Amino acid sequence: MEASQFQEEILRLKKERNAVILAHNYQLREIQEIADYVGDSLGLAYQANRTGADWIVFCGVHFMAETAKILNPEKKVLLPDLEAGCSLADSCSAEELAEARRASDRLFVVTYVNSTASVKALSDVICTSSNAVAIVNRIPSEYEILFVPDQNLGEWVRQQTGRKIRLWEGRCYVHVEFTHASLSRMRQLHPGAPIVAHPECDAAVRMLADEICSTEKMVGFCRKSPAESFIIATEAGMLHRLRREIPEKEFLPAPTERCACANCLFMKKITLEKVYRSLQSGEPEVVVPREIAERARIPIERMLDWST
Ligand code: 13P
Ligand code: SF4
Repeated sequence: MEASQFQEEILRLKKERNAVILAHNYQLREIQEIADYVGDSLGLAYQANRTGADWIVFCGVHFMAETAKILNPEKKVLLPDLEAGCSLADSCSAEELAEARRASDRLFVVTYVNSTASVKALSDVICTSSNAVAIVNRIPSEYEILFVPDQNLGEWVRQQTGRKIRLWEGRCYVHVEFTHASLSRMRQLHPGAPIVAHPECDAAVRMLADEICSTEKMVGFCRKSPAESFIIATEAGMLHRLRREIPEKEFLPAPTERCACANCLFMKKITLEKVYRSLQSGEPEVVVPREIAERARIPIERMLDWST
């Protein structure tokens, strides 16, 4: 089948199953086109929390679909390819975090949403790149904050809040591909274009950026800015969203040392054909053991509550 036929069939099946399609900003253009909602991790969590649909088809990576399942234990949550993982989620295991918790009873664990359900279950509050600063600012000063698992985001939050924060050593394998040199070369080629970077980028890249924010906030920043072109230092799928929403401006992908842009191979595991097959078969389903889901739900709901 051609892409447009898959899209038609997906929209037909979606109605039949009373399904909602939630897609992250890094998804392929043709997936973003058939989604009911396209957004960042925080927006997706809110959408999952309030949907009336019976099925949630999650076009993103495993931890995002898991979060949707934790918020909707009675609904069917489908992830069209269960291999869609995340290098950050893989960098912190529940066993390691449990050991860190045992070492101090004053610890307040702030866990980036890019983490497994078992790690969330051991956390005090969850955050996304969109609300991390606001969440950390709400933590009473008597606690010792441990931020897991993204070291770069944690370091940026530490700078923004002035709080003492212990960092985990996790990294996003995509965002660390951008370098100071690759961004400086791009800046020389496009001197008037602001650099907009995701906080998962290394400090050497963040210091060159005119704006550091979550993928959703990038849309707002670029819309409001008087500039006409922008260098976008995040995963390349973001460019589809920006070009669709702000067609009158120019968006240039930031290059890495090896490529003209950066792609997350986990995000790109989701294809139209796999979405179609999921809607047809009702598989593969994301399952979270009940005890873990019940514990993980508490810090996720605290995040949703603290971000409003
Ligand atoms: P956002 O929540 O900013 O969309 O980021 C998610 C992510 O996986 C970044 O790599
Ligand atoms: Fe994980 Fe990085 Fe891919 Fe985002 S871009 S899903 S942090 S590996």
